[in-house]
Amino acid sequence: MVRPPGPRGQEIAMALRFRKQPAQFFYDVVREHGNLCSFKVGTRWYYVVNEPDIISDLLITNNAKFVKDRAQRLTHLLMGKGLITSEGELHLKQRRLMQPYLHRNRIDDYAPAIVRYTAGAVDAWRDGETIDLHLQLNRITLDIITDTLFDSLVGDAGTTLGRELGNMMSYVIRVVTSPLPTLTRWSPGPKSVKARLQRRKLNSLIVKLVDEGREQHEPGRRNTLLDALLEAEERPDRPGISTQQIYDEVITLLLTGHETTANALAWAWHLLSHHPEEYERLLAEVDALLGPRDSTPGARDSVGTLTAADVASLPYARRVFTEAMRLYPPAYAIGREAVADHRVGDFQVPAGTTVYMSQYVMHRDPRFYEDPDRFDPDRWLPERSEGRPKWAYFPFGGGPRGCIGEPFSWLEGVLILAGLSYVWRFRPAVDKPAPVAQPLISLRPRDGVWLVADDRRSLQAGSRNGT
Ligand code: HEM
Repeated sequence: MVRPPGPRGQEIAMALRFRKQPAQFFYDVVREHGNLCSFKVGTRWYYVVNEPDIISDLLITNNAKFVKDRAQRLTHLLMGKGLITSEGELHLKQRRLMQPYLHRNRIDDYAPAIVRYTAGAVDAWRDGETIDLHLQLNRITLDIITDTLFDSLVGDAGTTLGRELGNMMSYVIRVVTSPLPTLTRWSPGPKSVKARLQRRKLNSLIVKLVDEGREQHEPGRRNTLLDALLEAEERPDRPGISTQQIYDEVITLLLTGHETTANALAWAWHLLSHHPEEYERLLAEVDALLGPRDSTPGARDSVGTLTAADVASLPYARRVFTEAMRLYPPAYAIGREAVADHRVGDFQVPAGTTVYMSQYVMHRDPRFYEDPDRFDPDRWLPERSEGRPKWAYFPFGGGPRGCIGEPFSWLEGVLILAGLSYVWRFRPAVDKPAPVAQPLISLRPRDGVWLVADDRRSLQAGSRNGT
């Protein structure tokens, strides 16, 4: 069988690179061997595709010939048979059930909650305080998703929920990236035992959240996504989805619905903090919308007046968010395993092969992005986007398995960016390490994004030079 070109030999070294730094590995392989290439680890063949037309063929036209790849399947350890891991009929049924709650027609209803938590967060820091903005954003986005989709106000319990979700995520990452995932999972070692205890703790938090929703739920009411799941639950008198399925969907949405957006925003502020000109333009746009800042304490209240309609007046903020996800796509690669033979370009993809499409590689492709490593939000101006293929940018994937939360993320991303920017200006914390991209399940900053939060009022009053 003729395979696409790619690195051959030195399989152990290659396997290590692939496991430790997958995004960079895909990038290097594509640059060296071309936009359709292949490599082998153990007995398995992997293809990497970096052509927009082929990606659209795989994710949309011939999506039915593929299932999620092994790494994504392993996330069932955390998310059971939730929407991200389920396949076939179950996936279709569940997607139809939940889609209306994340449809773009409905998303604006969530703006007040997004704005409320953003406005709440502006008082969280002291002027000049060094913070891990990534951690803080995770907390804000977790509160938002819990409130909007489950109408549950987690309050202080949110800290525990966030911590347990984080713990479980670390465990799943360990299993997924292990050369022997089954062994890692079932080993009697202390780490696995601890993980099982943590899993139990997380489960009980999820059960509590659903139980509280059930207590408030009135039959026939479908106000929230949790209402919809409870309405569809099996009862003695009629079939439906199992209670376990509800838990799986809740944990899936809690996880997918907060960490990715928090990552994207944390990277956006990291980039802004190193690009003063672009940062100034963002601040000017926000100030023009919310009114010039003055020294009255009430000015902070303006953040709470942001609405979904304001997004139209924040085109630069949207370009910043877009550009941050180009350079640091929270989902850095999509993997699919062929269940039937398929032809890709001049090559056959035999059933069983895993095909990777990497946003990290595509988004830095000089064919589509001039000076690709440069942070340049204006490259998203219509006149500069002309002729760029649609699939040269796919942070949310696409097709039947595309991100169900995409419209939510755009609204949330722009509103949080604007809201926090009205009050705070962040600068790099010189005594902390620079953030390092860690591509595991998502492209997260390994040790956080440490920034100094300057109150813009103090900066304006000239008490400190923050620019
Ligand atoms: C910047 C933020 C986000 C990014 C970059 C992102 C990215 C993605 C990508 C690339 C996929 C497709 C994976 C694949 O095809 O294998 C996906 C799927 C998914 N996302 Fe997101 N996501 C984001 C935010 C959200 C939010 C806010 C939610 C929930 C409210 C969400 C829920 C999901 C779910 C449930 C799926 C699985 C959909 C299915 O298979 O039917 N995501 N996401």
